[in-house]
Amino acid sequence: MIAFFRSRLGVKLFLSYLVVILVGAVVLGLATRLTVPEAFNRHMGLGQGAGQGAGQGMMQGNGTGNGMMSDLFINFQASFNEAMLLALLAAGAVAILVSLLLSRGVVAPVRVLTSASRRIASGHYGERVQASGSDELGHLAHSFNQMAEKLEQVEAMRRQLIGNVSHELRTPLTAIKGSMEGLMDGVLPATPETYQQIYQEADRLAHLVDDLQELSRVEAGAYPLDLRPVAVQMLVQTTLKRFAVQAQAKRIELRSNLPTDLPPVLADQDRITQVMTNLVGNALQYTPEGGYVTILSTRHGDEINISVTDTGIGIPAEHIPHLFTRFYRVDKSRSRQAGGGSGIGLTIARHLVEAHGGRIWADSDGEGEGSTFTFTLKVAG
Ligand SMILES: Nc1ncnc2c1ncn2[C@@H]1O[C@H](COP(=O)(O)OP(=O)(O)OP(=O)(O)O)[C@@H](O)[C@H]1O
Ligand SMILES: [Mg+2]
Repeated sequence: MIAFFRSRLGVKLFLSYLVVILVGAVVLGLATRLTVPEAFNRHMGLGQGAGQGAGQGMMQGNGTGNGMMSDLFINFQASFNEAMLLALLAAGAVAILVSLLLSRGVVAPVRVLTSASRRIASGHYGERVQASGSDELGHLAHSFNQMAEKLEQVEAMRRQLIGNVSHELRTPLTAIKGSMEGLMDGVLPATPETYQQIYQEADRLAHLVDDLQELSRVEAGAYPLDLRPVAVQMLVQTTLKRFAVQAQAKRIELRSNLPTDLPPVLADQDRITQVMTNLVGNALQYTPEGGYVTILSTRHGDEINISVTDTGIGIPAEHIPHLFTRFYRVDKSRSRQAGGGSGIGLTIARHLVEAHGGRIWADSDGEGEGSTFTFTLKVAG
């Protein structure tokens, strides 16, 4: 029984009104009991004082004025009590009506929200509620819809991620399996080239798994950032050294142009080296022999821009906004042939730069026109 009352907002509202009415009635009752007899006498007395009243006549007429007065008072009290009872009944009825209306106004949207959240919990992420009204319930419905939308997006991303990952894993696996079958059936010759090919696919797979692990780490922000003042020259030199052999092998000129008065930046050296490695690695990968890759840096207020420009294949404008989305590649078949990118590198770079409070973007005049990738870091101090 108590549980029933507790679980019904309407009943609770009604009971609270009832308490107010009862307290009002009790106070009124007590007040009248205490003050009315005296006030009655005073008013009757005032009536006499006015001089010509019938009261005086009544009091003196038959000598039983006091008896009449007390009769009058008793009748007055009885009618007062009757009126009080009527008022109580009317107030009670209004309390029922108002609590019903109010609770319906509150309970109905709450019920809608409850059932919508149950449906979302059971996997129907498209569920929304009608958000009308500008009161707290309206705000709640609005926030609920926003939450549902976010959940829906996350769920879509999760599905897409699983789809992408399985697709990416399947490609090298299929190649390895195909080559092994060819070897077993004797269709493929057991030459060093065949083994080399299989090894490359396995290597690709290992890289992919490493990249995926790194991606999940940076997306979750599950790594410590060791922010210190770092000289840009040092970051650039480290990157140039790392790629010197690769650039030479591809006959690409890898160079830098930095002003001498660049202030140090506030950065985690390893993480920013990782970003530069991704950018220069791409530049070398997507630039044909004989091209140039240049690292530049400029100061803009309290920000330092670092950019990697190449004279490579360029990027058509429609692809530029998507480059930093995971698994996005401008030309899937091309990047696969060209050494097998999986479209994760720039996504990792974006997360790392944003964790430093910076921005990263790409510019290109189109196919064959080269590209520039730029990111910003804060000046230290
Ligand atoms: N310097 C560049 N010139 C032309 N296209 C580029 C350049 N850098 C990146 N891209 C395009 O952007 C896509 C995404 O780059 P990203 O580095 O994220 O992936 P990836 O290089 O393909 O693979 P990986 O995850 O191994 O780095 C590339 O596939 C390529 O199409
Ligand atoms: Mg890359």
